[in-house]
Order: sequence, then C-alpha cells, then structure tokens
Amino acid sequence: MTPEYSRREFLGTASGLTAGAVIAPGLAAQAAAPAVHVRKSSTNVAVASGNGLRAVAKAGELMAQGVDTLDAAIEGVKIQELDPNDPSVGYGGLPNENGVVQLDASCMHGPTKRAGAVGALEGIKTPSVVAKYVLLYTDHIFLVGEGAKKFALSYGFKEEDLLTDSSRQRWLRWRANRSESDDWINVDEDEQMVPRPTGTINCNVVNANGDISSVTTTSGLSWKIPGRVGDSPIIGAGQYTDNDVGAAGSTGRGESNIKVCGAFLTVEFMRRGLKPADAAVETLRRVVATSEPRLLDEHGRPRFSLNFYAVNKNGEFGAGSVYPSRYAAFDGSEALRLDTAYLYERDA
Ligand code: GLY
Repeated sequence: MTPEYSRREFLGTASGLTAGAVIAPGLAAQAAAPAVHVRKSSTNVAVASGNGLRAVAKAGELMAQGVDTLDAAIEGVKIQELDPNDPSVGYGGLPNENGVVQLDASCMHGPTKRAGAVGALEGIKTPSVVAKYVLLYTDHIFLVGEGAKKFALSYGFKEEDLLTDSSRQRWLRWRANRSESDDWINVDEDEQMVPRPTGTINCNVVNANGDISSVTTTSGLSWKIPGRVGDSPIIGAGQYTDNDVGAAGSTGRGESNIKVCGAFLTVEFMRRGLKPADAAVETLRRVVATSEPRLLDEHGRPRFSLNFYAVNKNGEFGAGSVYPSRYAAFDGSEALRLDTAYLYERDA
C-alpha cells in the first residue's frame, strides 16, 4: 500500500465527521493492516521544540558520526537539561509549590522497540539519561519518585540542588503573591501568575537507515502540586516511536495531551498516511474536542498551549500547535527554526 493510497483512505474515512469521531471507524476498518510507510530516509533528521535548536544540531552532528539515534537525541536534549537558563528543563527548572524541582522524562528506541521513563525525579540534572538507563538495564518502563532517585544513584548519578538563584527567586515571588490571605507578605510582581510558566524539550530523530528514536524531558508545570507528573514521562503522550512509521512528542499543557495519548495518536495518523504536520494538527483537533469547557474560551478555543513535533520514516518532519509557534529542526544539513502549522490565530 503506497503512502498516497493510505492518505486517501484516511481522508475518506474522516470525511464529514467531527475531529473527535475521526479515528474510531478507521481503526475498526483497518486494524488488521494499517498503512505503513516503508521508504527509508536518505539523511539524518531531527525535530524538536522551539528551545531545541542546539539539540537538533547536536543530534544531527552525532548521527552523521554514526551514533545511535537514541543516544544522539538524548545528547541533544541534555544541553537544555544542563543549561541553568532554561527554566523548563533539568537544572534551573521551575519547582513545585514546595520549592522542590521534580523532573519527568521518557524515551523510546525504535530499532529495539524499548522504552524507559522517570517521573517526579528529584536531585538529578539529567532525567533523560536516567530514563535511558531504565530502558537499557531493567525489565520495567517507568520508575517514579524516591525509587527513581535511588535507581539513578546506584548508577553513579550525582545528587545535586537543582534550584538556581533565578528559579528560587521566581518561586519565592510566586509563594509570596499566591494569596492575599496567607502569612506571606506580597511583593511587587513582575511576571504573570496566569498562565503559569511551563516548558519542556522534545526531540525526535530518524537516521539515514530509517532508524528512529524520541525523548522528552521537563521540569513540568511550575508550582505544581508535589507528585504531579505531566505528559512528558508517559509513553504515548510525551513521546512515542514506532520504527516502522515515525516518532512524535509534545510540549505544553500535559493534562490535555494525556487524555488523547497525543504522541501515539500522531504516529498513528502518520501510519495512515498523514504528513507529520497534518498528523500533529489532527491530534490537536482531538485535544480540543476532548477539552472541558472551563479550558476553552467563548469561541471554543483552548486557553492553553500544546504543540506536537513529528518525523516520519521518510525523514519528513513538521509540527503543529494550537496557536502560532516555532520549532527546531535539523533537515540533514543545517539546524533551522521553523513555523508550526496551527489551529487558531491569536487574538490581536
Ligand atoms: N508538557 C509538560 C508538562 O505538562 O509537564
């Protein structure tokens, strides 16, 4: 079955239905033999969130040296994890409501069909690497909290304070101004309390042999309830790889992604022939369709941001977002910042 044929079949199935109803009939009809791209990419490609320009450049450089796709993707996102100036990831990430940085990460390695993840991990700067160790050295997929930390320490990871002066100051300001009726005296506020800062880095790569991997790592929603994990460490939500099809991952409001298993869904849309950006946008339509009214404005548009980034086995890549946004990609020769496809214009 050619990709073109599978695309027509998908669109035929979807025709006339709402976004939320698109996939169910298609799945029922095609479950036994879903369409799969089989042509291999002829070059190394990486796609990442907007903060991933250095990550995609690194991943591209490493894949050119023959480094495995998962190692290349993780070495890329590690740059952000170790950067104290990225408040959304690893060291310097914004903490939970108690001032404790809790990190989430997950990864998948297409050729070996393996996955690893950690959630609510404290004191370790590079959760993406710990997730890879779960993938490599255990029969499990997901370790959380104290167990994840002990696992990391057993492999020689160093326990460190992940708060920087800047992230501590931002948390102290948030705590002071959180309520008029608590015991903390309000201070001048120079940052918006709503929406709360959030961020993450996702990176998906395919090499010249058509091998694919993905990784997502984050400090999650700032000021979150301790123990909250978002979409990033959830296989199928924060990222997903199928070595026959492609990979996808996300940044933005994790709770909205978890409900649609968005990375998995994006890969499934690609399996049925959609191009990566179209697949990402289709997933976002599902997100809107499954959003509670309190999360939508008077026009039915999300009050939150969510992005998906995707690459297929052919090396085609793209990204979709609720509102206009940017993403990073290595196209085989250079690292670029590109515009996402999107659902809605922002109000002027
Ligand atoms: N997407 C990151 C989070 O919600 O934690």
